[in-house]
Amino acid sequence: MTKELVRQYYSDSVRKEWRRLVADPYHRLEFDTTLRFLEKYLPDQGHILDAGGGPGRYTIELAGRGYQLTLLDFTPANLEFARRRVKRAGVKKKVQQVVEGSIVDLSQFDDNSFDAVLCTGGPLSHVVDAHERDKAISELIRVAKPGAPIFVSVMSRLSMIIVELILFQYEIELPHFKQIRDTGDYPGGYGFTPCHFFLPEELRSDFESKPVEILDLAGLEGISSNHRKELNQLHKNEIRWKIWMETHYMTCTHPAVVATSEHILIVCRKKD
Ligand SMILES: C[S@@+](CC[C@H](N)C(=O)[O-])C[C@H]1O[C@@H](n2cnc3c(N)ncnc32)[C@H](O)[C@@H]1O
Repeated sequence: MTKELVRQYYSDSVRKEWRRLVADPYHRLEFDTTLRFLEKYLPDQGHILDAGGGPGRYTIELAGRGYQLTLLDFTPANLEFARRRVKRAGVKKKVQQVVEGSIVDLSQFDDNSFDAVLCTGGPLSHVVDAHERDKAISELIRVAKPGAPIFVSVMSRLSMIIVELILFQYEIELPHFKQIRDTGDYPGGYGFTPCHFFLPEELRSDFESKPVEILDLAGLEGISSNHRKELNQLHKNEIRWKIWMETHYMTCTHPAVVATSEHILIVCRKKD
């Protein structure tokens, strides 16, 4: 049931998802900060799995940089859209497969197959069942080659609570507010699809129990989180913007910033 709700939500928002990461300077923070960590840890070449890759923004970007890509997602409408975009971007030769599947079961791929694995923008947050989420983490690691970097970004619990204060105060008295606050689980039904919102220590410990070394935890929107209007305004001033972005990159791994960022990225490396 939860899976159907998630699939339906993303089937209805393919174009919105495609535009999301480049919609404005605020949304670009998530994309550009993720790319910065990809640049830091990706090998110079190789085959990357973009798991929960949606309409293909990262697949196309990385294929354009010379990597081989496989995109997996469980929403067919996203896959159709991604295939068209891959063709239009002229990177078809670099994209080996655009396939349907769930991150909870990557059995269509052998162990140790990929030089890097991505699962960005919250696919793991949409696996609301804790056992399935643990399985998904194991699967993302299983298909990575020993030594390969794994990049997973999720939605933050503390940021979500702050969003309720800013945008949806009437929800604070509804049962799901305390459910999110106390468990991270959101059942859906109030404008967004079912989701698990993470605390950073929870994300870290979920990966620490696996055969990986944690390399970085970062807040993708960082100190600008939930300040969309102000950030977009700041973008108009070149000098201030440059200093702010320098400050963003200096602070995005600070534990307090990671915890309250809309999206939290964990980067780890599969042990040899
Ligand atoms: C917010 S989008 C992120 C897309 C892309 N990775 C990005 O960073 O922009 C979330 C995507 O996760 C996919 N998704 C959700 N649960 C999934 C699952 N269990 N397995 C595979 N994909 C899933 C959805 O279909 C959707 O395309």
